[in-house]
Amino acid sequence: MKKLSNSPEGHQFSPRKPNFSLQQALASDWYDGNAFRTAFENAFSMLFPLGERSFIESVKYFEKQINDPSLLNEMKQFYGQESVHRKEHQNYNELLCQLRGYNMESLLDAQKKRYDWAKNTLPPKRRLAGTVAAEHLTAILADDLLRNKDHFTNSGTHVAKLWYWHALEETEHKAVAFDVYAAVCGSLKIRRRALLFATHFIMRDVLRSTVLMLKKDGQLWKIRTWVDAVNFLFIKPGILRRAFIPWLQFLRKDFHPWKKDNRDVISEWENSIPIKN
Ligand SMILES: [Fe+2]
Ligand SMILES: [Fe+2]
Repeated sequence: MKKLSNSPEGHQFSPRKPNFSLQQALASDWYDGNAFRTAFENAFSMLFPLGERSFIESVKYFEKQINDPSLLNEMKQFYGQESVHRKEHQNYNELLCQLRGYNMESLLDAQKKRYDWAKNTLPPKRRLAGTVAAEHLTAILADDLLRNKDHFTNSGTHVAKLWYWHALEETEHKAVAFDVYAAVCGSLKIRRRALLFATHFIMRDVLRSTVLMLKKDGQLWKIRTWVDAVNFLFIKPGILRRAFIPWLQFLRKDFHPWKKDNRDVISEWENSIPIKN
């Protein structure tokens, strides 16, 4: 039987059962007291419940074509982890909208339409390629969050802990959708195009929600907000600037998520995030 999983030897993971108390922090600008950073990160959270549902569905569709027990086991752990992420972010988003008066329906409008379109019209292999690309984006941002100590410097809250936990599990399962895609399709052209589309739509959704949230908060037209935005995205820490080279690597013909073996961040964080098991 052909081995389809390309995870490092002995790499194992399974869903944790976290326990976060988000109520108090979500009511405030929990991300270092900074309105832009808080709205940007909250906008990201809005994408996960539906996004991760789509990830699970797109991978599960091909389950019958996979006969490598180790990849099948990784797929099972991937569904488990993404399901808990969905649940925690749903809770996060509901609380956030309640506490800050955001309209969840209008925040999710564009994403919901695209989800329905992808589910009903996109060929399953292209939908899976979209998941592979989106998982690459989350893996890049997760590595940056875990590796660099310049995030959440003044945010000792449960919200920050939730993001660390999510980043940890995204790192663990970063190659699952990729290995399934390699087994059932593998087209480089489709994978490259998927990265361009996924990047465009994810950034568009996040920026749109960020603007809607800042508008509701009365922060949209302040110069400070946009100076902070340029700083955060491009200068210090410059999360988009730092993501650019890893983003490009996905376009290489011989790319695989574990070519960058970053299990060091998993073991470093594993015991330092207070998550109840
Ligand atoms: Fe996730
Ligand atoms: Fe994921």
